[in-house]
Amino acid sequence: MITGGAGFVGSYLCRMYKEKYPDANIVAFDNLHRRGSEFNLNDFKKRGIRFVHGDIRCPGDIEAIGETFDLFIEASAEPSVLIGLNCPDNYAIQTNLIGTINCLNFAFKHAGYFIFLSSSRVYSIDPLRNIPLKEGDTRFYIDTSKDIMKGLSVKGINEDFPTNTARSLYGATKLASELLIQEYVRAYGLKAIINRCGVICGPGQFGKVEQGVFTLWMANHYFKKPLKYTGFGGKGKQVRDILHPKDLFEVLNFQIEKMDGISGEIFNIGGGTDVSVSLLELTQICKKITQNEVPIESDEISHNVDIPLFITDYTKATQAFNWKPKTSVEDIVKDIYRWIVKNEDTVQSIF
Ligand SMILES: NC(=O)c1ccc[n+]([C@@H]2O[C@H](COP(=O)([O-])OP(=O)(O)OC[C@H]3O[C@@H](n4cnc5c(N)ncnc54)[C@H](O)[C@@H]3O)[C@@H](O)[C@H]2O)c1
Repeated sequence: MITGGAGFVGSYLCRMYKEKYPDANIVAFDNLHRRGSEFNLNDFKKRGIRFVHGDIRCPGDIEAIGETFDLFIEASAEPSVLIGLNCPDNYAIQTNLIGTINCLNFAFKHAGYFIFLSSSRVYSIDPLRNIPLKEGDTRFYIDTSKDIMKGLSVKGINEDFPTNTARSLYGATKLASELLIQEYVRAYGLKAIINRCGVICGPGQFGKVEQGVFTLWMANHYFKKPLKYTGFGGKGKQVRDILHPKDLFEVLNFQIEKMDGISGEIFNIGGGTDVSVSLLELTQICKKITQNEVPIESDEISHNVDIPLFITDYTKATQAFNWKPKTSVEDIVKDIYRWIVKNEDTVQSIF
């Protein structure tokens, strides 16, 4: 059972599980809130993935499924960090927090294992903005000559990094969900894992400025549309690590094998330093692949939830599962390019 199953990550996982377990009953549960998710439905039908149109804000929609599952992956969300309290009907809180509780209430009765896709955005904004940085020609680097903070090393940000001050509404709903999951583990014996994911991107993501900007970057190069470097001097030197969903799928499988010993644990999951990129560097990669150059404006002003650098230190996951991401930045971007070429009309209608 995958909630948000028609979204970018959820739909990728549905397909991977169906390939790995062809006889399994895979349910993609989604309210199709995200534009583009509807394009997965025909393909689900062909592959024998069952789509259920439902909303995690409504416990009755989840209960109505009336089945039990070995595994429940909570991958639905309003995933934009720019979403504010003014979003209609408190959508982010209702989905990302109350919806998660509804999923937990179902999962502890009707599912063997529960996996939650949390976010690196649970880490507090001010300490993230205070990470000592050096400015290189194409990106910011962590300045290890300065005092290193708790949870930070040359490898990036680990699970001990502060979460105790403001972290965006999105981050707060994810952190609050994490706390409740751990309570369900302790109080009700739920078997659950929390994965704090950095940026995940790849084919099938209908990116937009507010979320999915790496896919949007490639799409705008392909469709020759303008872009903008926003914040931190407006030079495009902000850095993120990125993760292909197939690398996420791999670590989820390792986690399931070991679930009994690690229930309630939190893991940072991301591309790490080896699979990190700045927007400026991404522009060069997109230019090389598409042979297109697009106008890029500059806006020096940073949004109050934006951060100049996030690189996941996934050492804990490596130690626990002998896992590390395998897909390079170039391969992720090429994969996005191939998806756009193959689905040009659909992709263009959304971007
Ligand atoms: N993509 C990333 O970079 C990233 C990084 C960290 C964490 N995550 C988390 O991974 C999960 C998947 O993200 P994604 O990138 O696939 O986002 P997405 O927007 O592509 O997918 C989310 C899906 O959830 C559905 N949804 C939204 N509200 C719902 C509701 N109330 N009921 C049922 N379905 C609902 C949407 O229609 C969409 O199909 C989310 O929980 C997100 O917070 C994503």
